Amino acid sequence: MPIHRRFTAKNALIVLLIWLFLALAFHLKDELWNSAPVDVEPVTSTEPPKIPDLHENGEKKLDDVKPDTKKPDVEKQDGVKGEKRTAVVVASQQSEDPTWLDKYFPHWEKNIYKVDDKTAKLTVPKNKGRESMVYLTFIIDNYDKLPDNILFIHPQRYQWHNDDPDYDGLPMLRHFQLPYLETEGYVNIRCAWALGCPAEIKPLEEEGEHRAAVHAGGQYKAGFEMLFPELEVPKEVGVSCCAQFAVTKEKIRERKKEDYVRYREWLLTTELEDSISGRILEYSWHIIFGKSPVHCPTAEECYCKVFGLCKLECPQMGSCAGRYILPPFSSLPEGWPFVGWNSEQRNRSASEE
Ligand SMILES: *[C@@H]1O[C@H](CO)[C@@H](O)[C@H](O)[C@H]1NC(C)=O
Repeated sequence: MPIHRRFTAKNALIVLLIWLFLALAFHLKDELWNSAPVDVEPVTSTEPPKIPDLHENGEKKLDDVKPDTKKPDVEKQDGVKGEKRTAVVVASQQSEDPTWLDKYFPHWEKNIYKVDDKTAKLTVPKNKGRESMVYLTFIIDNYDKLPDNILFIHPQRYQWHNDDPDYDGLPMLRHFQLPYLETEGYVNIRCAWALGCPAEIKPLEEEGEHRAAVHAGGQYKAGFEMLFPELEVPKEVGVSCCAQFAVTKEKIRERKKEDYVRYREWLLTTELEDSISGRILEYSWHIIFGKSPVHCPTAEECYCKVFGLCKLECPQMGSCAGRYILPPFSSLPEGWPFVGWNSEQRNRSASEE
């Protein structure tokens, strides 16, 4: 009997231990395993505050609140690993070659418009007004499904417009700071002031003037009044030249689609030469996208923010050492950048990186 009793005491202990073990296990299961559903509730309970946020949004004017509240949804919608959509819109002619963009920027969406090819996948209603017909057509046709960041550019890899020591678009686009675009809404893809800044056009002084075809001063005032009936015509307009810039979809949508339709209608019907109507828009995009008529940040600030090229030596407001010199002719020599202006052998001035 005593032996039997000893056994029962031992058994009781074992039962107690097993019971304790199970109790602990259940407790832990509750704490750890079931914690996922417990966490879900706070998530759903953060949804109601979103509604006041949206109300605030209306009052505060879009700027700050928007990115935080909207991005997650947008990213989910747009799929691909939650990444943002970046696109290029290229105003090109059949003779030009934009294929380098596929090679070096495979992750960007390409919208290559061929203005002189009616059968091209993307083309324009009328080849008029240079690149502006393309840019407006893209905005109008994609207004409700715009990519997040859009770069409006010209097709050639090497072209004098490109702000690079070799006029090479590759390092220019590689350096382009998308996060800066996202804070600004609109960014001109050029920093050198040579052509455009600080005051390319003086709409009031130059009204009616007929200078070289490259200058739209004489017709700018009328163009401005058509584009921005709500604004007073400014004394001076300046932005670094050449109509290559980037815009976010939010910035585009700060204007109604009808505005862009109206701009294009004007372009389709105007009797001005392409060089003039195109140039009026070239010197209006920054105003369309919310910048002041003179939009000329110093070259030093611009290179740093737009291209991440900081600590450059910038002896003048509008240029930094070794970055950009206005070329002698607008067409680069055949064989550039390895053949120079006098058919001499030439090395790149800078890397393609
Ligand atoms: C180009 O670079 C190579 C190698 O650095 C050099 O030997 C050559 O002289 C350079 N050519 C010219 C035209 O500057």
